[in-house]
Amino acid sequence: MRRKLVAGNWKMNGSLAANASLLAGLKAGLQEGSCDVAVCAPAPYLAQCQAELKGSSIAWGAQDVSVHESGAYTGEVAASMLLDFGCTYVIVGHSERRAYHGESNELVAQKTVRALAAGVTPIVCVGETLQEREAGQTDLVVGGQVDAVLEALDAAQLGRIVLAYEPVWAIGTGKTATPGMAQEVHAMLRARLSAKDAGVAQKVQILYGGSMKPDNARELLAMPDIDGGLVGGAALKAADFLAIIGAA
Ligand code: PGA
Repeated sequence: MRRKLVAGNWKMNGSLAANASLLAGLKAGLQEGSCDVAVCAPAPYLAQCQAELKGSSIAWGAQDVSVHESGAYTGEVAASMLLDFGCTYVIVGHSERRAYHGESNELVAQKTVRALAAGVTPIVCVGETLQEREAGQTDLVVGGQVDAVLEALDAAQLGRIVLAYEPVWAIGTGKTATPGMAQEVHAMLRARLSAKDAGVAQKVQILYGGSMKPDNARELLAMPDIDGGLVGGAALKAADFLAIIGAA
């Protein structure tokens, strides 16, 4: 059976003081060993996460990574730097980066490869907009996003990624995909992975993201192909995040 992973995506939120109290709350309230837990913080706070979480069972990660290895790329953060600060994970291809920073499927695939090469686990995000869903293009769009990544990976690399299905219309809107809707896409995604390597596909964690909250987490996480959550808003409150971890 796949272990569940609950990962917080703090987005561009937090401060040294707010993070300290959030992390202290998580450490105090976490029941060990129930599932994998991680927080993905803004880059300047990775050192703080490393200092506060070292030795705990909570992993930490970043929210983006450069496609380049090093050099003259002002403002970018290299995968090797994330590893320097003890990151286990990095979110790649979040819909906010695809929409506001023009990240293409191909760039997301290259970033995935870059993270893997550095030894950081990419949490690769895919998802359709409301317009695309209503036009019946969900499988086409989400399938295309995942296929671009699959083309860039061999089976061994595939076994080291985490995938996250995040319908864009559900992110930060309070609208969640129903468990059935989410499961349908998760099953489609696992079938795509299986086409590459059936054995490996069974091991890849596929997270759901988009307004996951304490009151809807349990039924989403009960679906056979939903292996955890990528949690935005509810990850900023220790009690809510812990409740979702409890559900997992
Ligand atoms: P949300 O964000 O939980 O606030 O909808 C999820 C995400 O964007 O990863």
